[in-house]
Amino acid sequence: MQETTPHQKFLGLTLTDLAGPGAGAIIDHMIKAQQFLTDHTDGDLLKLIGTQIHGIDASNLIDKAVIQQSYGGGHAKPTDDLLAGRGVFYVSEKGKLYLDCTAGHYQVTWGYNHPVLIDVVRQGLDNGVVSDNHSNIPQWPVKRLARSLVEAANPDMPELRSGDFSRIMAANDRLNTVLIGLATGSVACESALKIMLMQHERLKKASPAVVVVLKGNYHGTGIAMQYLRDMWPAMIKGFEVVSVEPNDVDQLEAVFAMYGERIAGFWAEPIMMNREALAIEPAYLQIARERTAQVGALMIIDEIQTGFWMPEVFMYRRFGITPDIVIVGKGMTAGFHPLSAIIYRRPLDMLAQYDAISTNGNAALAALVALANMALTAQNAERINHIQVCLFDKLKTLAEEFPDRIAAIHGCPAMAGLKFHSREDALSFHRRSVDSGLWLRAHAYHEGHSTVLMKFALCVDTPIVDEYINRLRNLLTHT
Ligand SMILES: Cc1ncc(COP(=O)(O)O)c(C=O)c1O
Repeated sequence: MQETTPHQKFLGLTLTDLAGPGAGAIIDHMIKAQQFLTDHTDGDLLKLIGTQIHGIDASNLIDKAVIQQSYGGGHAKPTDDLLAGRGVFYVSEKGKLYLDCTAGHYQVTWGYNHPVLIDVVRQGLDNGVVSDNHSNIPQWPVKRLARSLVEAANPDMPELRSGDFSRIMAANDRLNTVLIGLATGSVACESALKIMLMQHERLKKASPAVVVVLKGNYHGTGIAMQYLRDMWPAMIKGFEVVSVEPNDVDQLEAVFAMYGERIAGFWAEPIMMNREALAIEPAYLQIARERTAQVGALMIIDEIQTGFWMPEVFMYRRFGITPDIVIVGKGMTAGFHPLSAIIYRRPLDMLAQYDAISTNGNAALAALVALANMALTAQNAERINHIQVCLFDKLKTLAEEFPDRIAAIHGCPAMAGLKFHSREDALSFHRRSVDSGLWLRAHAYHEGHSTVLMKFALCVDTPIVDEYINRLRNLLTHT
C-alpha cells in the first residue's frame, strides 16, 4: 500500500463528488439505469425498446452549453445523451431505452461494458498493467498486441503463433512491422500518408506525387487527410490528389495509365461507411494491387471501420491481396481507449520517433483490452460469421419486400446500409427509427445519398437480429 505523507490529501472521491455541484443526482439516475439494464435479460429489454423507464430523468443535470455547437452544444438546454449502457442497449438521460445498432460510433466492438473486457481491465489494473506511459518503454500488452497484429496479417505462418518471428522479420514482402504509438485513426492515416510520400521521394519518382483515392473517402480529420476528400483545396501543396469512382475499373486503369510513376499510392477502405456503406469489390482491389506494384506505388488499405469486425481481423484478407500498409483503429480496443496502428513492410519503416506519435498512444491497458477483444473474436468466430450473414440475408429479404422504398442493401454482413430510393424517405425513416428506440445513423446529407447505416456490436445474437428486423419491417409497413 502506498503511504500518504502528511501534506498529501487522498480523501476518497465518489462519483457524486466528481459529477460536481448540483449535478450529483446524475449518478443516482445512472445507477438506476444501470440496474435496470442488468436486472433485465436481453429478451426482456428487446420488448421494451423505445419505452420510458420509470423514475429516470437526468436531462437537466449537466448540459452541453460549453461543448461545441456541432455536437449539440452551445445551449444550456435539457439533454438526452447516453446515461448508461449494456451490450447493444443503452438508456438515455430522459430514461428511454434504445437498441444501439451502430456499436457506439462504430467502435464499441463488443457493445457497452462487456463483462469479459471489464474483467480483463480489472485484472490488468490489479496486477500492474499501467494505463499509459512513455512510448520508449512499452509495457508487455503493447508489444504483445503488435505481435498479434502481425500474426493476424500473416495467418499462413504458423510459427508466429508459437512466438517465432525470425523468418518473418527477414522477409521484406511481409506485413511485419507495427507503428503502434498512435491514439487516433486520423494520426494513423497521416502516418501512412507520410510514409507514402517519403517512399516516393526515396525512389526519386517523378513529381509532384499523385495520391489516388476513392471518391467519398474518409481517412480522418487531419488537414492532409481531409485534403484527400477535397477539403482545404488551397492549403496543401506538393502532392496532387486524384479521386476515382469506386469500383470503376476503366477509370482506375485510365488514371494509372495517365499518371504512371507519378503515383505514390492508392488508398481504399473496404467498406466506405462515409459513402453509404459502399463495398469495394475484390476484383477492383486486385487490379489496384497489380497496378500499384507495376508503377512502384504503395497500396494502403484503411481498415479503421472494417478491422476487428470479423474473425479474420482484417477484411483485406478476404480479397486475396496484401497491401503495403494497413491502418487500424476504432474497434481494436473495443472502445475502451483510442489506440490505432499501422502495419507495414519493414523496408517502409522510415519515420523517426517523433514523426508519428500520440503521447497517449502507448496505452498498455487499452492494448490489453485489444488482446482480449481479439481473443473473444477468435473464440466466437463461427457464431460471429453466422449471425452477421443471417442479419445481412434478412436485410436483403426486407429489401425485396419493399422494392418501392429500398433500392439496395449496401456493405457486407458486418456493416450494412439500407439504401432508399429517396433522400427524404431515408431521412424520415431514420427519424422514425430513432423515435421508436432504434439508434441508427443516416447518410442522406450529401447529394445522392439516401442510406441508413448500421454496424452491430459482435455480442449481437439471433433474438436481437429477429426483433430488429421485425421493427424495421413494422416501420416500413406503417409509415
Ligand atoms: C475509415 C476511417 N478512417 C479514418 C478514421 C479516423 O479515425 P479517428 O476518428 O480515430 O481519428 C475513421 C473514423 O471514423 C474511419 O472510419
